[in-house]
Amino acid sequence: MKTLITGGTVVSSTGRSAADVLIDGETIAALVAPGSTALGVDLASHVDRVIDARGKYVIPGGIDAHTHMEMPFGGTSASDTFETGTRAAAWGGTTSIVDFVVQYAGENPLEQYARWHDKAAGNCAIDYGFHQILSDVQDSSLHAMDELVAEGVTSFKLFMAYKGVFLSDDGQIVRAMQKAASNGSMIMMHAENGSVIDLLVQQSLARGETDPIYHGLTRPWQAEAEATHRAIMLANLTGAPLYVVHVSAKQAAEQIAQARDTGQNVFGETCPQYLYLSLEEQLGAPGFEGAKWVCSTPLRSRAEGHQDHMWRALRTNDLQLVSTDHCPFCMTQKQLGLGDFSKIPNGIGSVEHRMDLLYQGVVSGQISLERWVEICSTTPARMFGMYGRKGVLAPGADADVVVYDPAGHTSIGLGKTHHMNMDYSAWEGYEIDGHVDTVLSRGEVVVDGGQFHGRAGHGRYIRRELSQYLI
Ligand code: URP
Ligand code: ZN
Ligand code: ZN
Ligand code: ZN
Repeated sequence: MKTLITGGTVVSSTGRSAADVLIDGETIAALVAPGSTALGVDLASHVDRVIDARGKYVIPGGIDAHTHMEMPFGGTSASDTFETGTRAAAWGGTTSIVDFVVQYAGENPLEQYARWHDKAAGNCAIDYGFHQILSDVQDSSLHAMDELVAEGVTSFKLFMAYKGVFLSDDGQIVRAMQKAASNGSMIMMHAENGSVIDLLVQQSLARGETDPIYHGLTRPWQAEAEATHRAIMLANLTGAPLYVVHVSAKQAAEQIAQARDTGQNVFGETCPQYLYLSLEEQLGAPGFEGAKWVCSTPLRSRAEGHQDHMWRALRTNDLQLVSTDHCPFCMTQKQLGLGDFSKIPNGIGSVEHRMDLLYQGVVSGQISLERWVEICSTTPARMFGMYGRKGVLAPGADADVVVYDPAGHTSIGLGKTHHMNMDYSAWEGYEIDGHVDTVLSRGEVVVDGGQFHGRAGHGRYIRRELSQYLI
């Protein structure tokens, strides 16, 4: 099957140009001058399918490097399966996800890795890779790290919070970092000071403070900035590359910026919720409503300027990319925390909306068009060892392509654009300038003309290389 995408503006992380994209089977065959001929014959007449992209952007498919499909968490399980979650991702122009294999304290990381393959295989509409969560690092975890790197799992998430569930202490973190420094893998860090948070939560509940907003007030920015600083120092000590996930506090982003200024391999991601939503407006909504936006790190105060700082950090490359941390729960699941905010399952669902929400940064002038492609696709591919196949439209790359219509419009909300398995949208009422028109995954059209044409089982496992982003 040969496809030609004609008349569009091809946008990469480094520039834009008028070009037609020729796809042969699953990969990109060539980028050619618009209206090119071959042996005097119009190229369009040589192909099986022509996609008209006049007036539209043609970009490499989005890569969401932080998702939690059907993750067991907080006494329940994230409500999107690999099937529903990857379908929603495709609707929103995301053609690859990197999901987290979960190993809770006491579980065997390699058994969990096999379990995640069982969950995903045959169910995904788009390609998928895995990071591995390591809790309570043990000798067996260090051994597993080598085996997993050989399997294409080249990044490991550790937690400085959630004692008894996920938390590794500083000594355990250093051991994992030493291993990462020796096998070339990346340490990803949930950087919040768990002991401090546990104390503040107890004190808050003892005062009778039970509403969702106290989730944010008991996870102050200092707990994030301190843990981020500590993680950076431990990475410095060991030489491990460090990637700080879901950065929401301005002061944490500043720690990352300082470390980068010294030349250390330290990176950070933020998420759409930390660019747009706030402690006051969403988490502080009346009654139990704020539960929809309980996630960790928490939404931050707009009065303190964290959201503006996240945009600035994305512009200056103090932060490198935006992932969703997609971890959806329905309202009945959130209600586990009625009367006790600390029991509300942590997570927000956004996998469908990341490309659109970030494109609003282009519309408002916060980031350039090229930077949009870079933070949503090219850098995730480089950061997590997929570049060349993913994150770029070039001969030989997988034909993961999005045709994005800047003149289109997308209304987010239930009954409008909503394919995630949630009974509410954390983004209800957001009106987007722009529209995902056509999405191809490895040469197959999965979304077009407002229809889903993909199928569960099309998506394949991505065996990742080591990071291609290190200094
Ligand atoms: O609230 C969140 N972020 N839920 C998902 C788990 C994590 O820490 O990333
Ligand atoms: Zn986390
Ligand atoms: Zn997460
Ligand atoms: Zn359109």
